[in-house]
Amino acid sequence: MSTSTIAPQRDLFSVPEAVCYLNCAYMSPQLRAATEAGREAAALKSQPWQLRPEHWFGQVEEARACFAAVMGCTADDVALVPSASYGIATAVRNTRIDAGQTLVLLDEQFPSCVYPWRRLAAETGARVVTVPRPGDDDWTAAILESIESHTGLVAVPGFHWAEGGRIDLAAVGEAARRVGARFVVDLSQSAGACPIDLAAVDPDWLCAPAYKWLLGPYSTGFLYVAPRNHDGIPLEENWIARRGSEDFSRLVDYQDEYREGARRYDMGQRSNFVLLPMVLAGLEQLLAWEVPRIAESLGVLTARLEEIAAGHGFRALPEALRAPHILGLKREGGLPADLLARLREHDVYMGIRGDALRVSPHLHVTDADLERFRAALASIF
Ligand SMILES: Cc1ncc(COP(=O)(O)O)c(C=O)c1O
Repeated sequence: MSTSTIAPQRDLFSVPEAVCYLNCAYMSPQLRAATEAGREAAALKSQPWQLRPEHWFGQVEEARACFAAVMGCTADDVALVPSASYGIATAVRNTRIDAGQTLVLLDEQFPSCVYPWRRLAAETGARVVTVPRPGDDDWTAAILESIESHTGLVAVPGFHWAEGGRIDLAAVGEAARRVGARFVVDLSQSAGACPIDLAAVDPDWLCAPAYKWLLGPYSTGFLYVAPRNHDGIPLEENWIARRGSEDFSRLVDYQDEYREGARRYDMGQRSNFVLLPMVLAGLEQLLAWEVPRIAESLGVLTARLEEIAAGHGFRALPEALRAPHILGLKREGGLPADLLARLREHDVYMGIRGDALRVSPHLHVTDADLERFRAALASIF
């Protein structure tokens, strides 16, 4: 183990000793600190006279700044959104596509990032090009091959959600820019778990819901907006995104101007008094651990899990082509239909996406969990 890896952090989570939870790509377990922050915040609305400007404006800016620190951008580039879908819808609203252009997506990409682009293609006479799953597992090369002079958009994740296949976003972004295509990134499956060099990737739009690797609550998330798109059209025309909305007595002095930067894209009711303190608890913990160290530590865990699974006939993508934090384990002849139920009997939890058993740990995972995983596989296979 290298000196920069992080030891198991079980005490910071409420996962019982007997439970082996390896399904963070579905939903990460909540930090105790986030539960506590949420409990306190939930009481606030029983005394609405206690609400202060900090609850309307301060927490929002703190969350924006913390996400910016995790991503390596400025707070001005960040909007608060409820979901990846909302972020993608904002990107669609601001993407001009002409008839005859192509929109490059991936085979079996997450549906939130497929349906909106399909609609845009249908409305404009553009064509969706679906990059087939590559036989050699190299998604990056396959995507690069699909980008042509008439490509108008490339919309991809950092890692394929089903089996963790890695995509070199910097290379794809460069290829997209070379042909003048918009570049939209869904970082749902890696924001907070793996570092990203935003300057090199240079996406037009990038979305990240908080409930997975950002260790936040459901129905919260972020949208990174490149400065070149700060003057676009938001999905909503909500009052708090306008300049001067701090003065509640003058809200009907209607303002044409938005707040600065990406704030115009904030969702309505973005000042979520209950959820934002929980979002902040997650982001602050990530900043304390440091994302590159999280990635390295999760990489050690997935390598150990892969080794255990290999003993029972499973194989994952080659390490260089997969995520450090998501393992897609496939098996000759496929997976038993009742596999998840049988794993659950051992209190071992993970997911199946396509034909892969998807294993995705976080820092709550201990050696005892690895032994539980080993014992469960040994009893099933
Ligand atoms: C790659 C990817 N994108 C997006 C989402 C979630 O989308 P939304 O926030 O729109 O529910 C998921 C959820 O599993 C996902 O795996």
